[in-house]
Formats: sequence, structure tokens, C-alpha cells
Amino acid sequence: MFALASFELSLQKKSGKILKLMDTYGVIGNPIQHSLSPLIHTLFAEQTKQQLIYRPILVAVDSLASALNEFQAQGGKGLNITLPFKQQAFQLVNAHSERAMCAFAINTLKFNDEGDRLGDNTDGVGLIRDITLHHQFSIRGKKVLLLGAGGAVRGVIKPILQEEPSELVIANRTENKAQALAGEFLKYGSVRALTFSALVENQFDLIINGTAASLSESSIELPENIMTNNAYCYDMVYGKGTTPFLHWAKSQGAKLCSDGLGMLVEQAAESFFIWRGVKPDTLPVLTKLKEMTRC
Ligand code: ATR
Repeated sequence: MFALASFELSLQKKSGKILKLMDTYGVIGNPIQHSLSPLIHTLFAEQTKQQLIYRPILVAVDSLASALNEFQAQGGKGLNITLPFKQQAFQLVNAHSERAMCAFAINTLKFNDEGDRLGDNTDGVGLIRDITLHHQFSIRGKKVLLLGAGGAVRGVIKPILQEEPSELVIANRTENKAQALAGEFLKYGSVRALTFSALVENQFDLIINGTAASLSESSIELPENIMTNNAYCYDMVYGKGTTPFLHWAKSQGAKLCSDGLGMLVEQAAESFFIWRGVKPDTLPVLTKLKEMTRC
């Protein structure tokens, strides 16, 4: 799995020089070949003049623990964790940030020199920065609908509530999961659960799709007329063109629609900061990715 690292080491041995290995990072997932994270972190490293290697690591679904052990034993400094491992990885670290504790899932892992594994979750801050900075949409005082009740949604509830919407509604295909989440996060702000069909009584300024429906190109069974005139619709999935959710949003007259590419870049920037202590400028990286993925 880490043949490239061994190759680099043997090259250095053969050259007879004592070279310090570059700090190594990576993203673990399954599948992983289409991940944009290696490109994003390479661009961040170039921009901030940081010397590091960042590579995609494909891990079999039942092999996360051994993959983490192997990466750590080889001196790896940090990992991003993506589907389907975010919740499983939470169990395999020995210190959690408050954000990770809220999400019960991690997308960022830092290995320190004492051998500790520090787990964090930067998805929520990534979503909020994309919505508020790149799309200039203020959540304060707005009615927000969040679709889904899985791991992706769990990580963004508290960050949304911290923006002080007038109300957050969570709706999920399986109703009791949304109810459980709303109950759990009530201590952070005004949040309640509704079924998809009960949404018909409401109109929202911001609708965020955090379900896995777009990953399988499926539509969500949502009622009509549930958005205000200036509504913004956000799909946390990226790289799938206009997703069925965004098609629906446009057909319903949404004023602004976006996918999760900006969230991806922003969560990566926060991970980079955790590892390197340097904040990259995300806008040029996002612009470059849009040029590459949308022409
Ligand atoms: P993730 O970690 O990506 O959130 P997950 O925990 O498996 O993945 O959760 C997937 C979410 O997408 C769930 O909220 C799921 O709804 P259920 O709880 O009813 O299963 C939702 N989901 C997946 N496909 C969907 C579809 N076609 N329509 C509506 N919701 C869907």
C-alpha cells in the first residue's frame, strides 16, 4: 500500500545521502481514485511553501485499523478520512476535538511525536465558510432546512446553529433518526424535526442536502413550494454536475444553487491549518478546481 514511500526511502539510501523524509499526509477512503484532496493539498503546499507529500490511500472496508497503524508506523503526520470511514475512524483515535465529539465522526487525523492520534472534524466549518464567504449568504435570522440524518449531517448541525438561524429544521426519509438528532442538538439552538411530507406547511431561505441521494443520482421526495423567493439551495455532494437535488431546486425557482466543491476546499484548508499551522488562501485553489472540473 505504501510502496511509493518505501521506494523514496530506498532511493535515498542508494544515493548515500542522509535526507530528512518529507512529512507525509494522505486521504483514506474507498473508493479514493476520484478524490480531489491530493490536488487541493498539493496546491496549498505550493502556495504556502510547505514541503510535504500528500497521497490517496485506498483501504479495504474492513482494514481501516491496520491501515492507520501502518501509516503511523511509517512516520505519517496526518490523514484526511473520507467515505465510508469517518465514523469508524472516530473509534480509532485517542483524543477528540469538541467538533469531533459533536459529529461522532472525524475527517482529520493528526499524529503527534508522542504517538497520539488526534481526531477532528472540519466539515462543518468548511460548509459554513463556503456558504457565508464564497456565496456571501448570511444564515443569521434565516429559516434553514437540513435534509438527511447520517454522519454528513451530524457534523454540520452545531456549526449551522452557531450562525443563529431563526430556525433549523431537520428532515429525513426515516423520521425517527431526524427526531433523535433534533433532540440531541436542541441545547445548541432552535432545531426541530419534520417528515418530508410535513415540510409542505413551511418555506425555507436555505435548503442544504446532506443525504446520500445525490451520490446514487436519486431524487428526494420533497413537496413543492417549500422555499422563499430568494432561497439558496446547497448540495453537499460535489463533482456530480447538476445533481437531482439541484435540478429540483432550479425547477422550484431557487435564486442560488451550489454544490459542495467550496465546502471540500474549505474543510481541506482547516485540516491543513491543523497540521501545518498555516492558513492557505482558498479562493485561488477553488477557482482553479472550478476551471478543471467544470469545462
Ligand atoms: P453519510 O455518512 O454520508 O451521511 P449515512 O450515514 O449512510 O451516510 O446517511 C445517509 C443519509 O442519506 C440518510 O439520512 C439517508 O436516509 P435514511 O436515514 O432514511 O436512510 C439519506 N438517503 C440516502 N438515500 C436517500 C434517498 N434516495 N432519498 C432520501 N434520503 C436518502
